[in-house]
Amino acid sequence: MKTYNIAALAGDGIGPEVMREAIKVLRATEKRFGFKLNITDAPVGWAGIDFAKKALPDITLDICKRSDSILFGSVGLPDRDPTIPKEERPERAALLRLRKEFGLFANLRPVKLPKELAHACPLAKERQGDGIDILVVRELTGGMYFGQPKMTEDIGGGNQRAIDTMVYTTQEIERLAHVAFDSARLRRKKVTSIDKANVLENGVLWREVVTRVGKDYADVKLDHMFVDNAAMQLVLKPTQFDVMFCENMFGDILSDEAAALGGSLGMLPSASLGTTNGNQTFGLYEPAGGTAPDIAGKDLANPIAQILSAALMLRHSFGLNDAAAAIESAVQHAIETGHRTGDIFSAHEAGAKRIGTRAMGEAIAAVV
Ligand code: IPM
Ligand code: MG
Repeated sequence: MKTYNIAALAGDGIGPEVMREAIKVLRATEKRFGFKLNITDAPVGWAGIDFAKKALPDITLDICKRSDSILFGSVGLPDRDPTIPKEERPERAALLRLRKEFGLFANLRPVKLPKELAHACPLAKERQGDGIDILVVRELTGGMYFGQPKMTEDIGGGNQRAIDTMVYTTQEIERLAHVAFDSARLRRKKVTSIDKANVLENGVLWREVVTRVGKDYADVKLDHMFVDNAAMQLVLKPTQFDVMFCENMFGDILSDEAAALGGSLGMLPSASLGTTNGNQTFGLYEPAGGTAPDIAGKDLANPIAQILSAALMLRHSFGLNDAAAAIESAVQHAIETGHRTGDIFSAHEAGAKRIGTRAMGEAIAAVV
């Protein structure tokens, strides 16, 4: 029987409880589709700091290296221990480090507003058209997040200066552009490339390179849009977008905005992919929503983003397309039959029942 090795890094906040539900759903696919998932838990984030004084303990990194993919929960509790310096805090020392370590340059964030959740979308019905369905393709290992210099320095008189550097090479833009165009080919064949070419050197290069790569994809329509306009267009007419192609920080911001249109940040999965070797793509799969410490441990979190991230893992890293589709349709079925965690619940919706994290996971696993 084909076996896949998965490192499960639940992390902090709601991470452990949504991870538990995702694993439950994965176990159900294992039974139905006849493959074996070897899942190894490892601490990360504040859980890593508590365990080994490091947000990414050596043993965790080791387990990741020996695995075929990483299923990640979420890390970062802004209010914990201010004496831990920013470079050692989970966001940078665990999550960004893992992205860099494994060369996970391509981040895919599919946003879909199911028609049953029209009420959870902040936009008026007429702006939702026939449904919102956007794929944000975000660059993940370059730009301002990683560019050097990156520092804060004293400049005298009690003042400081903070520097972040936005930097992209032709090659970095090119390889991600191929991901965006290839993804568009499997969808509605439209790429909107986001930049700030009216002000930033990076934006000018971005636009040039994307235009050039686009010539190899005559069947895909390419538009360019300034990031400020894109933020506005997302709320005015989200249905115009198919693939939104963004550098790291723009993608971070726009994907949260898009997620709200999809009903809830608790519904947004993501795949972070490196290069493909043969038919194997190493990936890290995580919900985009964060640790949500205010609702952690209360059985309130929506596990769907984590469960859909597991589906993306089956598809992109293991090529288990049927199993991935089974999870996605089980999620759709749970929504159609009125299962709602608090973030997508409305008292005005007939037939909807408010349930917890665990019950949502069980409802989905039962359908798989
Ligand atoms: C995300 C998150 C991370 C990011 C944080 C937690 C570092 O916001 O994955 O979108 O900014 O990339
Ligand atoms: Mg973000």
